[in-house]
Order: sequence, then C-alpha cells, then structure tokens
Amino acid sequence: MLLVAADDVAIHLASRILDQGGLVAIPTETVYGLAAAINHPNAVNRIFTVKGRPKSHPLIVHVPNTIAARRYASFFPPAAEKLAAAFWPGPLTLIVPRSTAVPDCVTGGHPTVGLRVPAHPLTLKLLQELGHGLAAPSANRFTEVSPTRASHVATDLGNELDLILDGGPCSVGVESTVIDLSGNSPVLLRPGGISREALERVLETTVLNPAEAEQVAPSPGQHPLHYSPRATVQIVDRKLIWSEARNLSKSGKKTRVFAFQSPVAQQTAEDNLDVWIMPADLNQLAQELYSRLRQADQDAIDVLVVELPTSSGMGQAIRDRILRAAGKS
Ligand code: TXA
Ligand code: MG
Repeated sequence: MLLVAADDVAIHLASRILDQGGLVAIPTETVYGLAAAINHPNAVNRIFTVKGRPKSHPLIVHVPNTIAARRYASFFPPAAEKLAAAFWPGPLTLIVPRSTAVPDCVTGGHPTVGLRVPAHPLTLKLLQELGHGLAAPSANRFTEVSPTRASHVATDLGNELDLILDGGPCSVGVESTVIDLSGNSPVLLRPGGISREALERVLETTVLNPAEAEQVAPSPGQHPLHYSPRATVQIVDRKLIWSEARNLSKSGKKTRVFAFQSPVAQQTAEDNLDVWIMPADLNQLAQELYSRLRQADQDAIDVLVVELPTSSGMGQAIRDRILRAAGKS
C-alpha cells in the first residue's frame, strides 16, 4: 500500500492504477471511497471482498459531471436534472434506471444505478482524467465506521489497497444523501449531506420515506447495525445522561459522554467524567463525528452515552448514523 498526498502526480498515478484494474482509496467531501473502475469487473469484485460486503449491495458510480451521469442512466428524469443542477458536485446520490454501460456487478443486479458527482477537487480531476465512472463505497469494512481521513483508511484497509490518495479531512463528514428517482415519487433512502428540506425546495414536492412509497428501489446497504464502533452506543435523553453515565462509570465500564454544551456538561467535565462536548453547529458535528467514534475505540471505551441532536438540516443524517451505531434504526 502506498499513501500519497493527492497532487497532480498522485492523481496521474491513481488513474494508471485504476485503468489497470487496481483499487484506490479516494477522498470525497463526505467520506473516503474505495474505488475501482466500473469497466474492470475483477476490480469491482475485489471491493466486495476487501469490505466483506454482500455482492447484492449496490455501489455508487462516481462521475465527473452531469453529462457523464446521463450516459449511465437509461432515463435521467426531470427531477434528476433539477437536483443535479442544484447540488452537483456535492453530497447527493441519485438513483435512476441504469443504462447498459453499467455492469451487473456494480449494481448487484438491480435495474437502477446510484450516481454522484463528488465535490472534492482532486477526485474530480481524477474522474475527468479517467473518462469512465468509479464504483466506490465508503472505504471501511462492512458495518463499521466510515473513514473521514486518509489515516483511517490506512489503519482499516491499508494492506489490501494499491494506493490511498490523501486529500485531507473530509469537509462534510457523513455520507451523501441517497434519493430514489426511479419510481413515481422521490424517496429518501438515506439522509446525508443534503437535507430533505433542501431537496424538497428544489423539487417543489414532498420527498417520501421508504415506508410511505408505493414503489421503491430496495437499498440493501441500509442495515440497522451500521456505522458501528466496537463500543456500545447508548442514546440517552438529555436530562438523564449524567446520572446514566455516572452509574455506568461506577459499575466499572469505561464510559464516555457525547453531549451538547450545558452548565451540567461543564461541571461534569470538570468532575473528571470523560466527556466530549459536541459542537452546537451541526455541520461541524457531522465533520467530527466519525473521528470521535473511532477515537473511542482506540481509547478502549466500553460505552458511549450519546445525546441526539435535533433533526433539522444536518441533524437528520447525524441522528440516523448515531441510531445505526446504536443498532436502533
Ligand atoms: O458519500 C457517499 O455516498 C460515499 C462516498 C464514497 O461517495 N459512498 C458511500 O457508499 O457511502 P456506500 O456503498 O457505503 O453506500 C451507498 C448506499 C447504500 O446504502 C446502497 O444501498 C445505496 O447507497 N445504493 C447504491 N446504489 C443503489 C441503487 N441502485 N439502489 C438503491 N440503493 C443504492
Ligand atoms: Mg458505507
């Protein structure tokens, strides 16, 4: 494995490796991706092996722009045009009917494909140089926490990759929003970097939850247990969080609290309870969350006692990830 700073030379090297059927970890604004060229089925299959992910779970195809995206769709609906114009490059994945240019191994045999133009300038350059799409799931093992720094990828998967492009810490920090546009109504399959409100503003219509939709693309990647650290994650109401943490601590469990700022939080931190005061700015919280989950494992924490944010804006994605980390979605 080679870890390199993502400059022009490194991008050229990455492009060569991908063209020859290698695996490269790429930076995106959401999380790091584990990329293979979609025209190399062996490389795409290796993604599933390295991640330990079932082959039926579809991969997102990353493209440099909307023109390239249209080539991978048999039909690129008006809603897709609107969302692409508003949010690409950016943390949004559009599920549309796939064209014959997308191999079966990428979509797990599904009739649809997930398309996204990522907003990281270096990865965009790489995609432009390549001239074909990159299949890339998050570069973590199945059900574990996604990587938001090149060092996370190196720790988890370093020995199994040909190259890791280091593009710095991810600016969004949680995965893209996944919206299904293959049926009659748009359906939110995964909350992420673009909020539901923002999607609805552009589409001028309601975006449904999977349970409300008549017809929806199955999204087997959405497991209840996902984004999970080794530590047990316990979600506790703000009022009870401190007593719960103290009880756990007294019972001998190595406990850490993730809570928002409050006089109690301040006092408790001073009392030597292990506390991370979460940033009130939810974009900043999203940016730091996965690093903090990983840090808890490095520090051999047994239990994380976590307060949920409100569900406005980025709060939807953060709540979703914390609930999944707790196995409670
Ligand atoms: O931000 C992201 O989306 C990152 C970066 C690397 O782009 N990628 C990512 O990929 O999170 P992955 O494979 O970890 O998650 C993709 C999600 C899964 O829940 C999968 O089921 C869903 O997107 N998905 C992909 N293609 C789909 C399709 N054709 N139909 C339904 N769901 C799909
Ligand atoms: Mg993932």
